[in-house]
Amino acid sequence: MTLENIKKLLEELDALKCGTAKEVEEARVRYLGKRGEITALFEEFRTVDKDAKREFGRILNELKQKAIAKIEALRDTLEACPDDAQPKADLTLPGDELELGSRHPVSMVREQIVDIFRKFGYDVAEGPEIEDDHHVFEALNFPANHPARDMQDTFFVSAGHLNPLLLRTHTSSVQVRAMETMPLPIRVVCPGRVFRNEAISARAHCIFHQIEGLYIDENVTFADLKQAILLFAREMFGPQTEIRMRPSYFPFTEPSAEVDVSCNICHGKGCNICKGTGWLEIMGCGMVDPNVLEASGIDSSKYSGFAFGMGLERIAMLKWQVNDLRHYFENDLRFLREFNTSLEV
Ligand code: DAH
Repeated sequence: MTLENIKKLLEELDALKCGTAKEVEEARVRYLGKRGEITALFEEFRTVDKDAKREFGRILNELKQKAIAKIEALRDTLEACPDDAQPKADLTLPGDELELGSRHPVSMVREQIVDIFRKFGYDVAEGPEIEDDHHVFEALNFPANHPARDMQDTFFVSAGHLNPLLLRTHTSSVQVRAMETMPLPIRVVCPGRVFRNEAISARAHCIFHQIEGLYIDENVTFADLKQAILLFAREMFGPQTEIRMRPSYFPFTEPSAEVDVSCNICHGKGCNICKGTGWLEIMGCGMVDPNVLEASGIDSSKYSGFAFGMGLERIAMLKWQVNDLRHYFENDLRFLREFNTSLEV
């Protein structure tokens, strides 16, 4: 026996690897079995010179302990992943195919609108779907018991309370939150889901999506509003698009208007999409009422602003000429797959 011999065995043990329980057992027999290499060294130890015994004894014991520990460690790792009975996975095989879905048309419209306003320098804000009366009505100049509240049939979550909780009926609530929290000037769009207690039909649903826009700064005028909407409409519906504004009423804007875009199907000649008028209604808008600015702590003698709000399903219906709103909620794959081609991964 030489020290060289023993060192070589120590190194061998360090490098030892086994893939199966059978290999571990074979290694144990090879080193520690009755006729194993380490057992044989212990036999040989008897013949070692007296004065060398001490050193050989120490290193032989170290070798044996190491072999026992290594075999145990190998057994433990194999027990932790007991797959040696199974054939090893063939990593060269192609993986399972992932079925890619497509973006929902309403999401596509939302992303397109948000991208357009991002280019104009608007931020994006979101707010809670379960809101309080203050943010949905009170701060937007709908006093309690005012008939304007009838414009939006509301699902209440808790009633009989000074500031009841409800499902927001419009994303205008997020403009209130933006005015309360964001530093001036504010330029923000707020996409989100809204809820109204409506009978479901081809033209109405109890859940739908809106996007709200708000711009507040010094000296913002109706001309700025008109220009922003015109630029948006041309980005969204094409460079030939014209807009027109019709006077309207919303409690939170004064003056208020509804915006129509020229019908990009018949180019003003009149078709069944625009019902022969050449125009399609896309949003409500107006100059933020000074009461609304003041309710959120903004000085209305210094600041003015405009707001607008539109329904995403409505824009999607116009864009793809879908004549029944319910298609957007039924998740019928035959309908959703029609939009596959527009998926950008
Ligand atoms: N919140 C209104 C609605 O749901 C839409 C709207 C109209 C929003 C005019 C506005 C606005 O910001 O100025 O019917």
